[in-house]
Amino acid sequence: MDPNKVLIFDTTLRDGEQSPGASLNEAEKIKIAHELAKLKVDVIEAGFPISSSGDFNAVHRIALEVEGPIICGLARAKESDIEKAAQALEPAKKKRIHTFIGASNIHLEHKLKLTKTQCIEQAVRMVRLAKSFTEDVEFSPEDAGRAEHDFLFELVEAVIEAGATTVNIPDTVGYITPVEFGNLIKAIKDKVPNINQAIISVHCHNDLGLAVANSLAALQNGARQVECTINGLGERAGNCALEEIVMILRTRKDCLGLYTDIKTTEISRTSHLVSNLTGFPVQKNKAIVGANAFAHESGIHQDGVLKNKNTYEIIDPSEVGLRTNRLPLGPRSGKHALKNRLEELGFHLVDIQLDSAYLRFKELADKKKQVSDKDLISIVDEKERESVTNTFYKLERLQVACGSGLPTASVQIRSLKDEKVVQTSALGTGPVDAVYQAIKELVEIPNELIEFSVHSVTEGIDAQGEVTIRIKYQNKIFSGYSADTDILNASAKAYLNAVNKLCDFLSNFEERGSENKPKEILIDL
Ligand code: KIV
Ligand code: ZN
Repeated sequence: MDPNKVLIFDTTLRDGEQSPGASLNEAEKIKIAHELAKLKVDVIEAGFPISSSGDFNAVHRIALEVEGPIICGLARAKESDIEKAAQALEPAKKKRIHTFIGASNIHLEHKLKLTKTQCIEQAVRMVRLAKSFTEDVEFSPEDAGRAEHDFLFELVEAVIEAGATTVNIPDTVGYITPVEFGNLIKAIKDKVPNINQAIISVHCHNDLGLAVANSLAALQNGARQVECTINGLGERAGNCALEEIVMILRTRKDCLGLYTDIKTTEISRTSHLVSNLTGFPVQKNKAIVGANAFAHESGIHQDGVLKNKNTYEIIDPSEVGLRTNRLPLGPRSGKHALKNRLEELGFHLVDIQLDSAYLRFKELADKKKQVSDKDLISIVDEKERESVTNTFYKLERLQVACGSGLPTASVQIRSLKDEKVVQTSALGTGPVDAVYQAIKELVEIPNELIEFSVHSVTEGIDAQGEVTIRIKYQNKIFSGYSADTDILNASAKAYLNAVNKLCDFLSNFEERGSENKPKEILIDL
């Protein structure tokens, strides 16, 4: 491998999906995996096959369908985990098993109750087992950031000897600082005699906001794989953000001398898709993919950028797939103009999808007159969500009365299973609550609304409101999203979107039988 190339190992579908409330269904994971392949990541960590039958099936389908990147499955250093991962990955053209075991004293003593010798012995046995299924085996000493260095060196040497081709050094709790982490990677390079037989990878968590800085320090000291996620999703405060580390390497190639194979023009589109499907909005001032990342507000900055972009812009927005300064479409724009604009934005719709996007576009253009790129993206997002969730219920009509009296909502929905239209009215503490109470009564599935947020897609009084909600059914969380110029309509559609995902989940149980009911195992990550 070229010594200056950095491999991008994307773990959005595994660590990213462990973000509280970010659960994705099988179809959504497949959609994201295809997008990651377009982005040209080197490795997709598609899931943790033993954790549930849903995860197993998603890894299996990704292994079957997604070509290009290596498909990886996570497994604790246990026979059953490794066998399950191997089974899920079986159809992949290029597959990797990623196995891990706790390596810090805290993990060894309190979680695993293993001595250091037992830990090395188990890690070696499990790497050999993984090796019997695939040449490509990655090993992680979990919580390496807090592990004793001499023990870590010994463990790394032993697993490489057993056949590990990548050794990943995780800062599992986001505790380490950049200089310390850089020194640790350098020490691994200096002290582990067989280190040249493996690639050093890093996996940094963001608890102290240092995940990207720590990953960069590791690369400057010899690591050549970064584990990262789109939008920095992941356990707790998340992981190293893919878009940030990739754009740092690209923008500062002059001083870092490293590169990735990422197709950066796909970054915005992938970020959007992941945010849309996980229901995790991207913070406005987020580097690279936030709505304000390329916005210049102050007069001095605007003046400078108009004279020469380089005055205040270190990245051309087109490098990450954003195009600026285009005229908005309007009520007179035809289907052809819409198709062209959507293609420029990276959406290639087939005729039937284009027809339905056009109908929605016309409705919006009649209300708003000027339809911006952001509006178009929200239209396609909605269609995209519909395409990855079976629709059980559809909103037909909504009427809301509010003011100083009792907020009341009358809702009519269609059940697409039997084409029955049902309706009811309900009171609520406010208009949104009244809408939810009415829908809940109609769908008859107990669920709790645990999160509701509304943002405007663009500026102006006629802007569309984007509603993201989360509902809880037993221990499972489902997100829903919708956008509309009327936020009560958006709220009702977002709620039905989440309810449709819940129905999808329940119908999978019915189809697969209770035997295969995803048993959520307690994962000691
Ligand atoms: O954070 C961590 O240590 C992990 C490992 C499984 C690599 O996610
Ligand atoms: Zn992690």
